[in-house]
Amino acid sequence: MLVSATEMLKKAKAGHYAVGQFNINNLEWTKSILATAQELNSPVILGVSEGAGKYMTGYKTVAAMVEAMIEEMNITVPVALHLDHGSYEGCYKCIKAGFSSIMFDGSHYPIEENVEKTKELVKVAHAMGLSIEAEVGSIGGEEDGVVGMGECADPNECKAIADLGIDFLAAGIGNIHGKYPDNWQGLSFDTLAAIQEKTGEMPLVLHGGTGIPADMIKKAIDLGVAKINVNTECQLSFAAATREYIEAGKDQQGKGFDPRKLLAPGAAAIKETVKEKMELFGSVGKA
Ligand code: 13P
Repeated sequence: MLVSATEMLKKAKAGHYAVGQFNINNLEWTKSILATAQELNSPVILGVSEGAGKYMTGYKTVAAMVEAMIEEMNITVPVALHLDHGSYEGCYKCIKAGFSSIMFDGSHYPIEENVEKTKELVKVAHAMGLSIEAEVGSIGGEEDGVVGMGECADPNECKAIADLGIDFLAAGIGNIHGKYPDNWQGLSFDTLAAIQEKTGEMPLVLHGGTGIPADMIKKAIDLGVAKINVNTECQLSFAAATREYIEAGKDQQGKGFDPRKLLAPGAAAIKETVKEKMELFGSVGKA
């Protein structure tokens, strides 16, 4: 059964570790992430961007697939199905489709409008038993065609959004989606510390988990980050393993072209990446 992410993240914040949100794209992704979480006895959050939801033919398909996999694979660790960077309309669609958590990304609205829409969605999400994440200060890089500049959030605005009753808060601290450029300045720990001071118990979310050095991840967790989002890194490891298989000509040997064989190295690579992250985030054994 799917659970909201509230309890797992409260526990993570209190226990000084973080739960990974791993974005899914298809059946292989979902299966690999769920299997790894179960093997490592770790809670997990499956993230679905609006683009990935569309790719998988819609949120209803995604929710049905994830629910069925949890049952068929005998997954007993806590699993949340979470809309990543949701629009106002997307949030309503996911609530209806059976997701257990949503993110409303109102960071591109003026703060007053972000507050107003977040407030409304908090009420609806909580009435339906879902957890809700909100965002202040845009996360840099490009995701699903939305380009952010990686600004640092204003701690006072973070407090204003946190006070609306949301369950966890994504705040820009110089993090960006995708690969980090060579001239990246690193995370702004001063900003993170100021946000943590203003928002207290609120679990904080670090987007753009791909490629952040281990010491920065650990420091971010020390300063209140309880959820870390990873997307690109699983894509890179899947692509590299698949390329290796094809370049070795394995798709042309025997029935190597069978999709169950062709996609197997990529799926195994995702498992390895998820395992590394869960170990780094400290969520192993915390289910
Ligand atoms: P990366 O693709 O950089 O890992 O970021 C994922 C993310 O933050 C999803 O919201």
